[in-house]
Amino acid sequence: MDTAAVHDDRAGALPAPGQPVIEVRGLWSVFPVPGGGEVVVHKDLDLTVLRGEVLTLVGGSGTGKTVLLRQMLGLNTPAKGSVTVLGRPVAELSRDGAAARVGMLFQQGALFSAFSVLDNIAFPLREAGAVPDALAREAAMLKLRMVGLKPGDAHKMPAELSGGMIKRVALARALVMDPPLLMLDEPTAGLDPDSSDAFVTLLRSLHQELGLTVVMVTHDLDTLFELSSRVAVLAEQRVIIAAPVREVLAFDHPFIRHFFLGERGQRAMELLHQRKQTA
Ligand SMILES: Nc1ncnc2c1ncn2[C@@H]1O[C@H](COP(=O)(O)OP(=O)(O)O)[C@@H](O)[C@H]1O
Ligand SMILES: [Mg+2]
Repeated sequence: MDTAAVHDDRAGALPAPGQPVIEVRGLWSVFPVPGGGEVVVHKDLDLTVLRGEVLTLVGGSGTGKTVLLRQMLGLNTPAKGSVTVLGRPVAELSRDGAAARVGMLFQQGALFSAFSVLDNIAFPLREAGAVPDALAREAAMLKLRMVGLKPGDAHKMPAELSGGMIKRVALARALVMDPPLLMLDEPTAGLDPDSSDAFVTLLRSLHQELGLTVVMVTHDLDTLFELSSRVAVLAEQRVIIAAPVREVLAFDHPFIRHFFLGERGQRAMELLHQRKQTA
């Protein structure tokens, strides 16, 4: 089966658990400003993502979280610096079809509105042209079940789906080529609390079962506390700290105080303390 070859190749390129899978070094992201000048979004930014972890990226609005994910997917080009994914420059990886290596759940979950659920999920496989169509459908059905949807949902159109279902379909599509890396941009934004909790539970079990390495952007503290192995804080155009959440909480910085210790942070903090006591 063709997918077996993909598996072998992928496994060969994976470092041992806890070793770096993504290395961002001295990254500058610069955009021209309409009317002249430029905006420096990242300046000499370093970040390492370790195999098997859930690294959560936080930062104020417009600090370049999405741009950083795009840099790690090879969709943006650094003005300076380097991005290495699975030991190779990311530009090389994206030329060879990044979908087999890195699954991406975009913030605007964007499904193709004219495609059924099944065709949306199968899309990356069909686009890669790597497998016969029957196998692509089979793989898509498998992923559909994996994200908690029913076989009967396969022929629904995106307009018929709830917000939570759209996220699940987008997740199934991101995982259809069995990538070892998954990137999530605000995965629970816009979901009601129950759908959000259910989606976090799904992400936690998939992370464990599939041994995925996950890079996630979120400003939802429940999601952050539930899933993060480490938290990376984006401020002053770079990552000011990347560490387990307790260390991040002890790091003195205005953004961290505001983000975690502001009013909305209190509930999540209390939960963390409860868990610490029962652990
Ligand atoms: N393609 C682009 N052209 C110009 N500016 C951009 C582009 N992409 C992002 N930016 C700018 O980079 C900054 C960071 O954007 P983004 O990464 O989307 O922030 P966020 O942290 O909210 O995800 C913003 O000021 C945005 O306007
Ligand atoms: Mg963003």
